[in-house]
Amino acid sequence: MAVPPILVTRPIPEAGLAVLRAAGSAHEVRAAEEPPDRDALRRLLPGRTGLLCQLTDPIDASVLAAGDALRVVATMSVGTDHIDLAAAAARGIVVTHTPGVLTDATAECALALLFAAARRVVEGDRMVRAGQFRAWGPMVLLGVGLAGKTLGIVGAGRIGQAVARRAHGCGMRIAYHSRTAAPQLERDCGARRLDLDSLLRESDAVSLHCPLTPETRHLLDARRLALMKPSAILVNTARGPIVDEAALVDALRTGRLRAAGLDVYEREPALAPGLRDLPNVVLLPHIASATEETRARMAEMAAEDLVAVLAGLAPAHPVAPQV
Ligand code: NAP
Ligand code: GLV
Repeated sequence: MAVPPILVTRPIPEAGLAVLRAAGSAHEVRAAEEPPDRDALRRLLPGRTGLLCQLTDPIDASVLAAGDALRVVATMSVGTDHIDLAAAAARGIVVTHTPGVLTDATAECALALLFAAARRVVEGDRMVRAGQFRAWGPMVLLGVGLAGKTLGIVGAGRIGQAVARRAHGCGMRIAYHSRTAAPQLERDCGARRLDLDSLLRESDAVSLHCPLTPETRHLLDARRLALMKPSAILVNTARGPIVDEAALVDALRTGRLRAAGLDVYEREPALAPGLRDLPNVVLLPHIASATEETRARMAEMAAEDLVAVLAGLAPAHPVAPQV
């Protein structure tokens, strides 16, 4: 018996499934909550024309090769580093993603990490739960203020600029590093464009918002982490491998960096040895876009683009093919 033409690799919000149903598309939702590995994808893909996937799914050349009828891969994420875009282009497979709709949610999460790390929110929470809050104290859990300090944004795109605008509203000065200038951000927030090493030297907090590419893998290596002020905070809601996580653990453990707020990890879901034991790091399980509204809209967008491509129409959010 023929397989349903569309495979959805994980359960997704109802809004996305409603789009598929409304289009009359036969689809199968893989029931497991865990991501499929390459073998599972290679087994499941033959005969499918559409794949609605997640950022956890390794869509490499071998997986795409197994998709003998595949015409579209719609990922419910803005990042596309889990997909071999060149291999998809070579096979004429359209790739779509979900930009923009998750910008606010991700920016809010980056700021939550920044404030939590600066004001030792998780340490305070643990102290209260442990019954160790005995009295207000003039020296208890002193953090660091952010107003008047400089926030360095690496990657001043949609999310980077949204973080910059919010931080500027909280009284922070803004510096940024991107390959192209962001003149509107400079006008609106007085943002200064710096080369990466200068940005790291001058910033009191650094927030990463560039995509993971061959160029940005380990962009923050041991040398660059050492350029940061010992009083600085690093926030990463972009992708784990942009930071050398072992070097980050070392910097945080030895006091060469004050604190970090992380939503993403180099080998997700594994953590670098020692990371979980550090008190000066706030750890989230890759949830920056995880609001009910955002995830529903992401599912809808992915499903709409998938249906469009299968109907022979141009998708609204194609990823530029790489050859
Ligand atoms: P975007 O609008 O494309 O912004 C990315 C920015 O990075 C662009 O301004 C780009 O500008 C810059 N960039 C690219 N290569 C760079 C490099 N080598 N050095 C410095 N800057 C570089 O993308 P977005 O929507 O803001 O999303 C950004 C990333 O956030 C995604 O790719 C994804 O990995 C991550 N993300 C994570 C979560 C989460 O749940 N934690 C949620 C959403 C997004 P130039 O090309 O001009 O340099
Ligand atoms: C989340 O990490 C995304 O890329 O959407």
